[in-house]
Amino acid sequence: MTPGRTAPVLADATRGRILYGGDYNPEQWPEETWHEDVRLMRDAGVTTVTLGVFSWSTLEPRPGAREFGWLDRVMDLLHGAGIDVVLATPTASPPPWMGRLHPDTLPRDAAGRTEWWGGRQHFSHSSATYRHYAAAITEDLAARYAGHPALTMWHINNEYCTFDHGDEAAAAFRRWLRARYGTLDALNTAWGTAFWSQGYDSWDGILPPRHTHYLKNPTQVLDFRRFTSDMLLECCTAERDIVARHTPHIPVTTNFMPLWIGQDGWRWAEEEDVVSVDLYPDPRAPLGAQHAALVQDLTRSQARGPWMLMEQAAGPVNWRGVNHPKPPGLNRLWSLQAVARGADAVCYFQWRQSRQGAEKFHSGMVGHAGPQGRTHQEVKRLGADLARIGGAVAGTHLAAEVVILHDWHAWWASAQEARPSAEVDHAAVLHAWHRALWESRLTTDFAHPEHDLSGYRLVVVPQLYLLTDAAVENLLGYVRGGGTLVCGFLTGIADEDDRVRPGGMDARLRELFGIRTLHEWWPLEAGETVACEGFHGTLWSEEIEAGPGADETLAYRGGELDGLPAVLRKGRAWYVSTLPEPEALRGLLARVAAAAGARPVLDGLPAGVEAVRRGDLLFLLNHGREPATVQLPGGHRDLLTGETVGGALTLSRYGAAVLAP
Ligand code: GAL
Repeated sequence: MTPGRTAPVLADATRGRILYGGDYNPEQWPEETWHEDVRLMRDAGVTTVTLGVFSWSTLEPRPGAREFGWLDRVMDLLHGAGIDVVLATPTASPPPWMGRLHPDTLPRDAAGRTEWWGGRQHFSHSSATYRHYAAAITEDLAARYAGHPALTMWHINNEYCTFDHGDEAAAAFRRWLRARYGTLDALNTAWGTAFWSQGYDSWDGILPPRHTHYLKNPTQVLDFRRFTSDMLLECCTAERDIVARHTPHIPVTTNFMPLWIGQDGWRWAEEEDVVSVDLYPDPRAPLGAQHAALVQDLTRSQARGPWMLMEQAAGPVNWRGVNHPKPPGLNRLWSLQAVARGADAVCYFQWRQSRQGAEKFHSGMVGHAGPQGRTHQEVKRLGADLARIGGAVAGTHLAAEVVILHDWHAWWASAQEARPSAEVDHAAVLHAWHRALWESRLTTDFAHPEHDLSGYRLVVVPQLYLLTDAAVENLLGYVRGGGTLVCGFLTGIADEDDRVRPGGMDARLRELFGIRTLHEWWPLEAGETVACEGFHGTLWSEEIEAGPGADETLAYRGGELDGLPAVLRKGRAWYVSTLPEPEALRGLLARVAAAAGARPVLDGLPAGVEAVRRGDLLFLLNHGREPATVQLPGGHRDLLTGETVGGALTLSRYGAAVLAP
């Protein structure tokens, strides 16, 4: 946070509404179209648009030039129509002149290939020249629009996600490593450079993990990820500090990609006034809604409250192999799901579908079919829905009794070459465990393993390969304090430097779960299962010898591990050494949650119906393609229809209700 600044918050922009709108790129259209746009926006209930995300070459067509006239006119036009503006710094896509005149601004991949202009995001986070130009345009933009009445929020850059292995990045990496380790000895120890003759005698010898003949040093790779996240954050906060100096009262955000590996999401969220995310579930994916729920739960937890859905698609995207539209009702359902899970803003990429450029086949709020197209008609209907419920919803919080622990450093350390099994994917394991809780209708937060966990009845660790000592102590303290912990395999294996813990798994955790010896891992092939007492495991199994303290075990049945424990419990600490099939994992977690006193939002819901409580509102969301009937305790008012409902409530296909007591 900028020192001395009292952080403004999302509520400063929402002012009791749910923000509704999207990225607006008027520079792609003649001015006549702007007037039609604004009229259609008003009809559709649009409250807010994001301007200027990719406008750098329009704003600064030549080095140092400034073309603000068009933006002045758009800002005024929008303000005249009562539409607020989230103004973006345009720094995600430098103009071609920059790369031509300053090749040092272009990033290089691990093989030394340059990422040229002609696409987007071709900037090196370490380039002093890039940072200079980015600061200059940000300064002028902020100075010019600081007092504009339409300005409601700043949007820095867009989806920071670049890597750079070039020379300037190498120098910055060395500076970052010096700050982390102080001495070369400390670095050589942390990186384990005695292995394969990698000992460094000079800081100048250290490189980003560039293309190598064979496997790379894993701690070097891990530190490079840490460094990259920090450098991108430096770019972001540099721009944030400029706009905050001009407008200390206006909140600032940058949009995250959903559950993206590249940024330390906990660290970044601390620097954001508003946490925002872009979310594009595949309309055809059977678990699309659960993926969305996971990202929404994570984003809400990063924000510690209401958050902003910065981008979603009104219809198809253009970047999957096959790009499916959203069937009627699905856009509304998924938007209401975001609101249920804490969003106070529902926005899209983008307002009007482009006719040219790389995203011309990506849907917009106004598609190629025009305002009469089904997609726009649904966008309009949703605008009215959000206006109806906004006053009751905006600013309210969710209460969760269950928390999932997630840490990007653990993900970075585990997502490397030469692991026990390439089939094990951190994000997929996280999804599997979240799914079990989501299907059990247990509202779930996310937390960093060193966060205070004392407010939760159940802590779930799907997989944290790397755990710091502080995190291990935090888990132990939580259980000692009366909490219930369930932990999946490959947890607590390595320390902060990716050094394997003695005994192959942290000794304090082994003691906690009643594991005497972890003899060997027995990873499974894709599609292979292992029989266990009452269920089947997938992906992984372990040769464990239980210690005397284990109170309860479920054993492997047959095969090499016959009779050895697959699941162990010692007091309130559970260890699951395989990935149970979905139904089994759901059953296990529901049982442990119930014993810990964590309650589902509603019991007896039909399959496919999601229930979320936000404040005193109950959201019911039917993800099924068939109508579903829910038995409601007592009478309620559905804020979407204004009707009073009670007893049996039937939700149509993709139907939703927002019930007030
Ligand atoms: C996002 C990006 C947008 C647009 C969108 C398409 O990643 O921020 O600018 O490209 O994807 O789905």
